Amino acid sequence: MPPEYTIRPCTTDDVPAVGAVEADAFAGHDLYPNFVFRQAVDIQGDGFLVAEHVASGAVVGYVITTASQRDEDQWWIVSLGVMARHRRRGVGSHLTARAEAFGASKRAGGFLLTVDPGNIVALRLYHHLGYSEIARLSGHFGEDEDRLLLAYAAG
Ligand SMILES: CC(C)(COP(=O)(O)OP(=O)(O)OC[C@H]1O[C@@H](n2cnc3c(N)ncnc32)[C@H](O)[C@@H]1OP(=O)(O)O)[C@@H](O)C(=O)NCCC(=O)NCCS
Repeated sequence: MPPEYTIRPCTTDDVPAVGAVEADAFAGHDLYPNFVFRQAVDIQGDGFLVAEHVASGAVVGYVITTASQRDEDQWWIVSLGVMARHRRRGVGSHLTARAEAFGASKRAGGFLLTVDPGNIVALRLYHHLGYSEIARLSGHFGEDEDRLLLAYAAG
């Protein structure tokens, strides 16, 4: 990742800025409200990371990862977003790598995530990072809201 960005755990002070990243990255889609991010700071710990633009101090991306409570060997990349004007500089892939490293430190065996089948950019990113499709989840988020289930084996 270029030196103008740094990755660190999200703090309560970052929550409004993470909400702004969410609004930018997922414009036109259902958004996580800020109270969910506020709770995630307490619940996820170092599984909730932000990317900061060093020169301006602005939060420009975030990722949330967590262990599945059904199978603690499996971790989920719950959400990943980067502000449009900071994309294609490695921020998204480094946020994902840091989330995976956190999971690996807690003995994660693998990572799962879902993605909109039409989100070609995200699919390219995840393929680039070694994820592969293991299922198509029909109506996963509601009618006409299919998702692709992607997996990555740690280690
Ligand atoms: C998906 C997203 C997080 C990628 O963030 P990013 O910081 O731009 O990603 P990176 O710069 O690390 O890109 C890594 C690789 O992904 C692929 N990629 C990323 N953006 C791409 C694009 N617009 N077109 C083609 N490939 C792309 C490339 O292979 C890229 O490697 P390269 O630049 O060396 O070719 C960002 O586009 C985003 O926030 N999108 C909206 C929210 C979203 O879809 N989140 C994922 C939901 S599952």
